[in-house]
Amino acid sequence: MIRESSKLKTVFKNSLRGSRKLKYVDPEGTLGASSLDKTGGVSKMPKARRGLKEKLEAVLAPSELSLVYRSYDIVGDIAVIKVPESLVEKSRLIAEAIMETHKHVSTVLRQVTPIHGDLRIRGLEWVAGERKTETVHREFGCLFKVDLKRCYFSPRLLNERMRIARLVREGETVVNMFSGVGCYSIIIARHSKARKVYSIDINPDAVRYMRENVRLNRVEGVVEPIEGDAKDVILERLRRVADRVLMPLPEKA
Ligand SMILES: C[S@@+](CC[C@H](N)C(=O)[O-])C[C@H]1O[C@@H](n2cnc3c(N)ncnc32)[C@H](O)[C@@H]1O
Repeated sequence: MIRESSKLKTVFKNSLRGSRKLKYVDPEGTLGASSLDKTGGVSKMPKARRGLKEKLEAVLAPSELSLVYRSYDIVGDIAVIKVPESLVEKSRLIAEAIMETHKHVSTVLRQVTPIHGDLRIRGLEWVAGERKTETVHREFGCLFKVDLKRCYFSPRLLNERMRIARLVREGETVVNMFSGVGCYSIIIARHSKARKVYSIDINPDAVRYMRENVRLNRVEGVVEPIEGDAKDVILERLRRVADRVLMPLPEKA
């Protein structure tokens, strides 16, 4: 059984609560009406968003513009957009506007399925730029290499990751049950004085990237990637070792 301390429960509950209420949108990732201030003006929009809106106004009809999804993710140099069915043939125009606005974006992918299955992966189609799905994302001084087609990754969780890392006390052992490519584990290792972070994932691709990310971020002595079903791994080798357990429920992500 996993040891339950009050500290552990706090991280556990807060982690779940955080992921449920999460509405964070990439600060530069808002396209449409939600960017307007209360008077309907655009004066408070960050420059990049305003620029993007203007670029889209030049290529889309107002009725089309109103259908464009308001947010998109930028992971490293890849932008991931969602496009409603009625605008699919305009995907390339939207993608080009994003690439012109965010000069560091070299690829735009369209999300074509929801995040699904145990591995929490989404269907992606290339729209513009370089044909690739692998990138390196930077967050709080850490680097995360990821293939977006093979692994779960959300840039929107950055504040939650740092919030969790700040709870970890010197010398503690953390078990991260659903680690993906290792973002929580590595942020914890780099921004706390944890003794050990056992970092489990069932997706072999995610664990391969996690191993690479552990090396990239020089946390080899602290983060230990483990491939397997978290339940089995914990029962077999991690009983009663944790001061804290992270368990971001996969099906809620
Ligand atoms: C929502 S993702 C969270 C990833 C990571 N915490 C992050 O924020 O980037 C859930 C992860 O759980 C993994 N997963 C699903 N079922 C699992 C299981 N039984 N044991 C270990 N990992 C599992 C998936 O492969 C996926 O990477």
